[in-house]
Amino acid sequence: MAQPRVIVVGNEKGGAGKSTLAIHIVCGLLHAGHRVAILDLDLRQRSMSHFFAHRAAWTAANGVVLPMPSEPDLGDGKVLARAEEAEQIARFDAAYAEATASGAEVILIDTPGGDTPLSRAAHARADQIVTPMNDSFVDFDMLGSVDPVTLELLKPSTYSESVWEARKHRAIKEGRHAAIDWVVVTNRLAVAEARNRKRLEERMLKLAKRVGFRVGPGLRDRVIYRELFPFGLTVADLSNEVRPVAVSLAHVAARQEMRNLMQALGLEDVSLPALDAAA
Ligand SMILES: Nc1ncnc2c1ncn2[C@@H]1O[C@H](COP(=O)(O)OP(=O)(O)OP(=O)(O)O)[C@@H](O)[C@H]1O
Ligand SMILES: [Mg+2]
Repeated sequence: MAQPRVIVVGNEKGGAGKSTLAIHIVCGLLHAGHRVAILDLDLRQRSMSHFFAHRAAWTAANGVVLPMPSEPDLGDGKVLARAEEAEQIARFDAAYAEATASGAEVILIDTPGGDTPLSRAAHARADQIVTPMNDSFVDFDMLGSVDPVTLELLKPSTYSESVWEARKHRAIKEGRHAAIDWVVVTNRLAVAEARNRKRLEERMLKLAKRVGFRVGPGLRDRVIYRELFPFGLTVADLSNEVRPVAVSLAHVAARQEMRNLMQALGLEDVSLPALDAAA
């Protein structure tokens, strides 16, 4: 059986935009015609699972057909969160095997903020890690420490070390050719703060060389990335038929941002349903 490609969305920093990015990547993949399985390892919040439950309910209620991912059952998240580590890993392995057996081409895994056994297990399976990061030194701190006086980059920090561990784990298990493609994207870019961003970008590029990630195109801070959540929809799903909110040029721009991101992840050009901002 062909092995699915595993994309892990991770960053130990809470609120960086992992779940937002995860649901947008899944919907982009679905619109490109891929069979996708999802695993939501944020056992308490379950944002990605809830999003797709909303999608099933909204499409059914509105007589609309939209592509859906499959989701192997991890059981009651809150119970699993309290279980022994070995049991958590066994449950994850079973869900992963179920996703592979179902013929998924891509398994997309959303992870919680913080370092958990499940998150570590997921990172060790990743072919690609996508890390959203807010446009701020506070978030940068999880990737690399910066000298408080000179703002020079000192060394990789917590999350970079976790990715390094995952890479080591894979290299031992699968040989030296196995590599994890790590892509970091800035999220919630504000139009203002250009000076701070330039400094941050310079440090990101230095750190990218040091710890081995690529810098992908970022997402702007846009209401559209969160306002469709209750409907289980993303900008990728909007069309002249599916438009529960008034569509503006910002929506069209957001779709282009998503396309750029998907391309940077190496996913073929996603053809989205036609969307006319003036309709
Ligand atoms: N590009 C964006 N534009 C506007 N709002 C955004 C954007 N990205 C994320 N958000 C909002 O920021 C908040 C945090 O995002 P999200 O829940 O995706 O982060 P997370 O990394 O999954 O958090 P956690 O670590 O708690 O799981 C949410 O309210 C989300 O709607
Ligand atoms: Mg989340």
